Amino acid sequence: MNILIIGGGGREHALARAISKSQKCTQLYAAPGNPGISQFATCLEISSDNPESVIQECQKREIKLVVIGPELPLVLGLADALRNHNILAFGPSAAASRLEGSKSFARDFCKRYQIRQPTYERFTDIRKAKKYASLIGPHCVIKADGLAAGKGVIVCNATKQSFDAIDMMLGGGFGDASQAILVEECITGPELSAFALVDGEDVMWLATARDHKRAFDGDMGPNTGGMGAASPSPDETDSLREYILENILKPTAKGMVADGTPYKGILYAGLMLTDEGPQVIEFNCRFGDPEAQVILPRLESDLLELIISHCSQKQQEAQVVFSPDVAITVIMANKGYPASYQPNSIIRQLDTLSVQSDRFIYHSGTQQNDQGDIIASGGRVLSITATAETYSAARKKAYDTVSHIKWENGFYRKDIGNF
Ligand code: AMP
Ligand code: GLY
Repeated sequence: MNILIIGGGGREHALARAISKSQKCTQLYAAPGNPGISQFATCLEISSDNPESVIQECQKREIKLVVIGPELPLVLGLADALRNHNILAFGPSAAASRLEGSKSFARDFCKRYQIRQPTYERFTDIRKAKKYASLIGPHCVIKADGLAAGKGVIVCNATKQSFDAIDMMLGGGFGDASQAILVEECITGPELSAFALVDGEDVMWLATARDHKRAFDGDMGPNTGGMGAASPSPDETDSLREYILENILKPTAKGMVADGTPYKGILYAGLMLTDEGPQVIEFNCRFGDPEAQVILPRLESDLLELIISHCSQKQQEAQVVFSPDVAITVIMANKGYPASYQPNSIIRQLDTLSVQSDRFIYHSGTQQNDQGDIIASGGRVLSITATAETYSAARKKAYDTVSHIKWENGFYRKDIGNF
C-alpha cells in the first residue's frame, strides 16, 4: 500500500520510521517531511491546508492511506475530505477534532458527561472575565479558546498577571483563536499524557507518557511544546490506568457517539493527577510531540497493520503489544526557544552517530542547505530517544548520544526522565 504522512516534525519522523518497518508499506510519502523523514519517505511539497491538493496527489501516486500528524489539518477537515474521496484517513473528523480545536467545546462536553476537570467559564467580555478571575483568586489559568500553536495558555500566580493575560488575549493577542477565552481554576499535581485508539465506543488503550513542558531544568521557565518525554509515565499503575479508561476515555468516546460526532483516531488526554484524582487539562486529537517519539519506539506490534484495521472498522480484532522497556527522549532546541531564536545554525556530527536499535535521533525543525549540511530551522530541532530496561539506563544512552552532537546554538534540559 502507498501511504502519505502529513506533517514534518519529530512526531511524523517517529510515525515514518514505525510505518516503514511494515511489510504492508510499499511506498511511503511525507508532506512536507524533513531531512530525517527523507530517510524513510519521499518528501512532497504540497500544502496540507488545501485538501484538494492532498487528494490530487493521492490520486496521482495511488496513495490509499493518509496518516495525519498535526491538529490543524484535522480541525480544518482533511480527514473528512479524504474519506469523501474513498481514501483511508487516520485521524478524526473536523466535528470530532473540536475536542482539541475549541477548548470551550471540550470543557462543555466534559461538564455534560461529568468527566472531572477544573471549574471554568468562557468569556468574550474583558470586564466579566476579570470579575470571574478575581473570584477564582491569584492562581488561575487564562486560555485562548482556539488553536494557538501550543502558546495559548497562561498559568497565573497573581491577579495582575491574569488581568494582563485577559487584556492581551481578548485584545486580539492570538487573533481569531482568542476572540473567546476560558478562565479556569488552577489545579496542581503531576501531569500524565494518556493515549488511546478510539473507534466510536471502542477504546483501545495504547500507552502513557510524561511530557516535560517547561523550558529549563527543575520545571522552571516558560511552557514549551515539550522539552522531553518518557514512556510509560512514572505514575502509571494498573489501577490508575483502569480509572482513566473507565472514567475519562470511555465516557468521552461514548459521549461523542451520543452527540452524533463519533470519534475515530488517536485520542490524547492531557491529565493532571490531583490529590482528588485525575482531571482533564485538555484533549488532543492526535499523537503528542514529543510523546510519539517515546511511545512508538516501544510499540512491538506492526503500526501500519493497526492503523489499517482501525481505518477498516476492524479495530476490535486487532491486538497491540508494547515492550516493557521504557523510552526517554531529550529535545534539543534553538537557544531562545520558546521565544525568538537565531535560525539556520549548522548541526554537525549527526551522520557520524551509529544507528542502533535502542537509540535514535528524530528530526523536528531541521532543513538541509545547498552544501548538504543539516541546519536548525525551527524552535525544537532534534529528539534524541533511547530505550532501556530502566529510566536511568535510557537516560544514560540518550544523553550520551546528545553529547556527540556538535551544535553551538542548541540547548537541552539535563533532567529529562530523572524520576
Ligand atoms: P494546554 O495547552 O491546555 O495543555 O495547557 C498547557 C499547560 O498549561 C498544561 O500542560 C498545564 O501544565 C497547564 N495548565 C492548563 N490548564 C491548567 C489548569 N486548569 N490548572 C493548572 N495548569 C494548567
Ligand atoms: N506534547 C504536547 C502536545 O503534543 O500537545
